[in-house]
Amino acid sequence: MKPHVLAIDQGTSSTKALLLDAAGDVVARAAVPLSQSHPGPGLVEQDALALLGSVRTAVAECLKAVDPSTVAGVALSTQRESVVLWDADTGLPIAPLVSWQDQRGTERAARLDRVGMSEEVRHRTGLPLDPMFSALKMAALLDEHDPSRAGSRAGRLRLGTVDAFLLHTLTGNAVTEMGNASRTQLLNLGTGDWDQELLDLFDVPRAALSRVVPSTGPFGRLKGLAPLADGTPVLAVLGDSHAALFAHAGWRPGIVKATYGTGSSIMTVTGSPAAAGSTCTTIAWSTGQPTYAQEANIRSSGRTITWLAGLLDITPEQVVGLAAGSDAGDVTLVPAFGGLGAPWWDARAVPVLAGFDLGTDRRQLARAALESVACQVADVLAELPAVRQVVADGGLTRSDALMQLQADLSDVDVALTRHHELSAAGAAHLAGLGLGLWPSDELEKRADANLQIFTPTWDEPRRRVAVARWHRRLMAARELGT
Ligand code: G3P
Repeated sequence: MKPHVLAIDQGTSSTKALLLDAAGDVVARAAVPLSQSHPGPGLVEQDALALLGSVRTAVAECLKAVDPSTVAGVALSTQRESVVLWDADTGLPIAPLVSWQDQRGTERAARLDRVGMSEEVRHRTGLPLDPMFSALKMAALLDEHDPSRAGSRAGRLRLGTVDAFLLHTLTGNAVTEMGNASRTQLLNLGTGDWDQELLDLFDVPRAALSRVVPSTGPFGRLKGLAPLADGTPVLAVLGDSHAALFAHAGWRPGIVKATYGTGSSIMTVTGSPAAAGSTCTTIAWSTGQPTYAQEANIRSSGRTITWLAGLLDITPEQVVGLAAGSDAGDVTLVPAFGGLGAPWWDARAVPVLAGFDLGTDRRQLARAALESVACQVADVLAELPAVRQVVADGGLTRSDALMQLQADLSDVDVALTRHHELSAAGAAHLAGLGLGLWPSDELEKRADANLQIFTPTWDEPRRRVAVARWHRRLMAARELGT
């Protein structure tokens, strides 16, 4: 009987399970939504037990009409940076999951910055000192639940990213995947292991963390994840953004992945761990040797559209629809909600709406909001060397107007994937490579066959005028915040 790979994508808003056959086609799928809570300003949490339950339900639903004994192994992609604290013996969480969006580490980050640690942290981890990464969340969780660090030092309490939590609970092994570990701000990029000086700096005992292993494991075998047989191996684990890059066959030089979600993540593999420009350096995946990637994060993409939809009392889809056939005139929106991310990293910048008058209508506002997404991504792409093709995914890519605008502004081909479950597919592809189900050149062909290409149509003067106007207004947003 031909084997199947079961891919589980544990994301922020849902857990998805996908069953892929030996040809790489999806033959069954299920999704379970997840909620978040905001217990205070800057705090974002999820119920870790509900998250575990969503994995169990998604797997059971997906395999309802399938003989589970055909599943040769499981591939896992996970939301990154979020942290779970759990009891080593029972495997039960002892606090809500602290989400990657949570800002509770802001003050500690500022303290470390004041004593001059930012550069050292960035040098060791490839990441700016920022509360988005796990280390500051781990410190905050331990301050609350294990202030003396006695439980975590003795290994009674365990701390980790979502992959570590799921792997420990579902296999009994205390292991974590290297790409996910590289987003904690505790992993030394050079050694691919926990960095003792960083553990001391953030006051996180090594005994509470799982052992770092490559993206192909060994992770161990599942126990009690019905209806899968006990002993089914976990074959591959990836961070979700990294998995999407893998699904685009993004190991090829010059391929840049842009995800247009709530915010945007722009990612490309790179030859060395050396930090470049304003981007973060991360381990994309490791199959023995680590593959490094540069990643830039933009705070407001889909979020800008949702904000405008709320303001106009229409749906985000209607905003995108209004923007499609219109012209913004002279209107520019700089969506610096909570400051600007890459490549400016300016926390003080404020949102600006410029160039409007009494005749400005909602079509122009909608178009300006859509343009702000493309302009921000264009600013990041301009910093990356030798971009050959941008491969695009995420909810906002449903807008052809956005895709065309990106190609025009960045003067590069933008290739839109028709796949909507890229993270799960990327993890499954890595697992399938290990099983010998499909070679990497077949994965490249498969990724390319699913693309719709948008090619640039603007001439250079038109492009320059548009970029210059955006930059003038972006600088105003930065100046107004000082
Ligand atoms: O860095 C956070 C990211 O991994 C979360 O992704 O798709 O679950 O919101 P998503």
